[in-house]
Amino acid sequence: MAVSKYDMAAASLAEDLGPIAPGEIEGYRASVSLQLRHQGELLAFMRGYLAEVGLPTAIEIGDLTDYFEVRRNNPAFGIKGTTPGNLTLWLFMIARVLAPGVIVESGTFMGSSLFTMRRAVPSAKMYSFDLNFSNLIFKSDTITYRAHDFGTDPVRSESPTDLCYFNDHINNCMRIRQCYERGFKHIVLDDTPDLGEIQAYRFPALPVVAMIAEDKWRDGDTIEWAWQDRRYRYTFRTEHTFGARELIDHCRPIPALRRWTGLQDSTAYYVKLK
Ligand SMILES: C[S@@+](CC[C@H](N)C(=O)[O-])C[C@H]1O[C@@H](n2cnc3c(N)ncnc32)[C@H](O)[C@@H]1O
Repeated sequence: MAVSKYDMAAASLAEDLGPIAPGEIEGYRASVSLQLRHQGELLAFMRGYLAEVGLPTAIEIGDLTDYFEVRRNNPAFGIKGTTPGNLTLWLFMIARVLAPGVIVESGTFMGSSLFTMRRAVPSAKMYSFDLNFSNLIFKSDTITYRAHDFGTDPVRSESPTDLCYFNDHINNCMRIRQCYERGFKHIVLDDTPDLGEIQAYRFPALPVVAMIAEDKWRDGDTIEWAWQDRRYRYTFRTEHTFGARELIDHCRPIPALRRWTGLQDSTAYYVKLK
């Protein structure tokens, strides 16, 4: 291959300011007024999505400032295996606009999303589910911890704005049925890749809500994918869906925010139940 002699540095308008200490700038740093316009644009985009899914849209710059403060203090934020950065921002804002009396999380692991939602709505009763709490690095006596499956627990919704977040890689459709039976209306389902995204997963929450949202899949449809050096297969079966489609009022994928935040996006859905 020919080596280009073209010197980008000679033509680029980017100034090279020399070495930088680790952590001195988190991603980027913009001038104050530009940063405010950028955050205004982010908030407008997020309000647009909230309106589209029928949620209140009253998020302000103060909520964003609160989120950044919470993120700075979150001891589990950004660690591999925790909820992707941009979904913590969505969870914070969705929890803020709903102001739920009860928040349920299943799939707690290190506690990044738990910490985020705890701080978003300090008054909510919180239930945290995981089968193994040994990795949790944030604990609070304001949270009820349950080391068994949500499906075997008597927890129920207490108000129409209560919120459940699932990041446990367990069948999305079964979680929808379980939420419906317990009276919950608002769910965020994680690990819900569509076809083109599935190779990022070893254990998507099969069948994922993306498979029933648009009526694309038929009984017996099969997908195979490569994850690292192994081949995986899933065969869609109607009986795996627990009749979840009939329980959904509407649902939408939670959009990417990377162009504003530089953080990792998720394959999550907001689901409103009937
Ligand atoms: C991707 S991690 C969750 C990350 C977490 N949201 C965070 O921000 O740290 C998935 C977690 O689901 C848990 N899990 C697996 N099966 C579960 C079940 N049936 N109920 C609850 N949690 C489960 C695993 O033990 C693991 O800790």
